[in-house]
Amino acid sequence: MWKNAIEDAILKVKNNIAKHPNKLPHIIEGQRYEWGENDDWIEGFYIGMMWLAYEYSHESSYKEAAESFLANFKDRVERHVALDHHDIGFLYSLSAVAQWRVTGSQEARAVALQAAETLYDRFRPAMGIIQAWGKEDDPENGGRIIIDCLLNLPLLFWAYEQTGERKYYDIAYQHALKSQKFLVRGDGSSYHTFYFDPKTAHAFRGGTHQGYEDGSTWTRGQSWGIYGFALAYRYTKDASFLETSKQMAHYFIQRLPEDHVVYWDFDVPLEEATPRDSSASAITACGLLELVDLLDVNDPDRNIFEKAILDSMESLVNKYATTDIEDAEGLLKHASYHVRGDRAPDDYMIWGDYYYLEALIRIQTGIKGYWYE
Ligand code: GLY
Repeated sequence: MWKNAIEDAILKVKNNIAKHPNKLPHIIEGQRYEWGENDDWIEGFYIGMMWLAYEYSHESSYKEAAESFLANFKDRVERHVALDHHDIGFLYSLSAVAQWRVTGSQEARAVALQAAETLYDRFRPAMGIIQAWGKEDDPENGGRIIIDCLLNLPLLFWAYEQTGERKYYDIAYQHALKSQKFLVRGDGSSYHTFYFDPKTAHAFRGGTHQGYEDGSTWTRGQSWGIYGFALAYRYTKDASFLETSKQMAHYFIQRLPEDHVVYWDFDVPLEEATPRDSSASAITACGLLELVDLLDVNDPDRNIFEKAILDSMESLVNKYATTDIEDAEGLLKHASYHVRGDRAPDDYMIWGDYYYLEALIRIQTGIKGYWYE
């Protein structure tokens, strides 16, 4: 089953490369992608899929396609195009860092280091946080973090490994600690965002941007937390991050619906038309695969996490994948972007496609993606 799903997925990547040369997929409604420029937060996922497809198949066309975008990503970071946000980590971990990991390219390494430096500039020392969105003096976002940022931290940890410059490690570690303290609630659920007061540095309040309401748990935010804290543990060996990831994973698993693929928020009232977020389940599958790898062989949680991986991945492959739609451009149906904001509530999401492929390939081959060595 996994092999067929992977082969269908990488063929779709190949078809997209052929149909949309030099273009990158953007979010749009209507079970399709809009193909455009490198100016959003999501473009790295498509490049990461090319690297996964190359590592799985050894077909050089995937590698050539991925490499052909490096100049574009270099130009973007040099000219600071649409980079007033923290998602520099997503963008460059799966493009430049992935290229360096797979090929050893020094040019890719230099681009990734420049990206890490750009992300470093978003650290606000008085609050000990990496600001999620906007410029430093942004009145609404000046002191705001979001849980998604945990997946941006591997770029900083990698930059520390490469350069020996402690500053990258230190800010990533501090941001992970702040996220743990203020975004994760005592029962293992999470806020999407938290506000600090930039003038006084006081912790102000939790809230949401893409979730159902301020105190609810947006399922994709929970997924970013599960995977992100596992990766923070991987880099820092701070056992509290492993505990947080496990706690968040249990919260997620205990609230799975019958078909093991989550709705868009754990607290939204369920009706027939309530949107799912298949991308959240794909991210969580990757986070759980990472947890299983990190846990001691005798840890009783391993069985729980392994079962959850199989249940959700089987459901994604059998009920959500586009294997039955030959000309589909996306891999997973029924992902949602911003239901509360009425943006793409039931469509393809390129990060869902990326994490679905990462999970499939990790299960089938052990190749594990590009977040660490
Ligand atoms: N990082 C933005 C999102 O998950 O929608």
